[in-house]
Amino acid sequence: MTLTPTPADKFTFGLWTVGYNGGDPFGGPTRAPLDVVHVIEKLASFGAYGLTFHDDDLFAFGSTDAERRTQIDRLKAACEATGLKTPMITTNLFSQPVFKDGGFTSNDRAVRRFALRKVLRNIDLAMEVGAQTFVMWGGREGAEYDAAKDIRSALERYREAVNLLSEYVLDAGYDLKFAIEPKPNEPRGDILLPTVGHALAFINSLEHPEMVGLNPEVGHEQMAGLNFQAGIAQALYHGKLFHIDLNGQRGIKYDQDLVFGHGDLHNAFALVDLLENGGPNGGQAYTGMRHFDYKPSRTEDENGVWESAKANMQTYLLLKERAKAFRADPEVQEALAAAKVAELAVPTLAEGEGYRELIADTESYENFDSGAYFNGHGFGFVRLQQLATEHLLGAR
Ligand code: GCO
Ligand code: MN
Ligand code: MN
Repeated sequence: MTLTPTPADKFTFGLWTVGYNGGDPFGGPTRAPLDVVHVIEKLASFGAYGLTFHDDDLFAFGSTDAERRTQIDRLKAACEATGLKTPMITTNLFSQPVFKDGGFTSNDRAVRRFALRKVLRNIDLAMEVGAQTFVMWGGREGAEYDAAKDIRSALERYREAVNLLSEYVLDAGYDLKFAIEPKPNEPRGDILLPTVGHALAFINSLEHPEMVGLNPEVGHEQMAGLNFQAGIAQALYHGKLFHIDLNGQRGIKYDQDLVFGHGDLHNAFALVDLLENGGPNGGQAYTGMRHFDYKPSRTEDENGVWESAKANMQTYLLLKERAKAFRADPEVQEALAAAKVAELAVPTLAEGEGYRELIADTESYENFDSGAYFNGHGFGFVRLQQLATEHLLGAR
């Protein structure tokens, strides 16, 4: 089956994703750099909605103002010509040697001040290109050695930075939200705000928590052995899913950035089902960008780059179609009912009931037959998962 992506699907790609040249710590590039105009034309021709980028993806670090302007204008003209949008941008605070100990949380105060200036300048660019979301991935904000980093001070400096950036956006009257991207490690041995949960707690400590949400990435949570779909559900629960990085990862190892679905396919299925059907009354739970942050493997030539870009969208659309069929299957509905999935939405106490009434209710304890749960009252969760598997495999 082939499904054709359209801009209505809100598929976006990082310039650094399709632009990845294949270099890794063990070997140099295997592909030539791609020009931004070429990338925009290609993505638009495939039905993508938009392109995202770091400042340093578009114009090299240290560019003169004129060089920077030329590249921005080329990007804007290509977007104008193709209709491709730039809904998210971000700042590179990790590639340059100056950021070897981080940007916002470097032990060196002068580096922190420089990092803030780089981001402030990039926020103005975000507005110029019409972005609504500003991602903050602090890949170098972390440490390898416990004695080398005072974590509480580092978090305080992180907070200081995000508070300052929020104040700048508010004062300028910009309509821009921040999305923090957690990652447990790589390139640092340990990165600050390593998971969705850590980042959620941090956001609650900010001066303007309403301006800051999350940009969770499939592979990053899975690198920590966590269930991505469950993390996304919690981010949605707290109203903090501002953006999402879709890709594939096979277990707890280095950040693979595979094509979406080329890792834990079951979890990808559950994720798409959640995003597309997990909203109130079965509607969309998430209406933002479906952003792919993957790397075309270093074994691929340019043709392979575009094939892999299309594979991300294709897999998402296939999973969306499979999730719809899963939801519509009467046997699945019956298995969901048997598993009491909807019963979890019923409050444990009745309207007006408190602990006094609960204690007074002898049915809840004194007369409750907990013994009947030995060899009885099974939930049938495995059957439900098998039905999901059969839908996933196209056997239903
Ligand atoms: C990574 C990250 C990055 C960020 C990007 C945008 O592991 O390298 O996922 O790709 O998403 O820097 O903030
Ligand atoms: Mn990643
Ligand atoms: Mn990412």
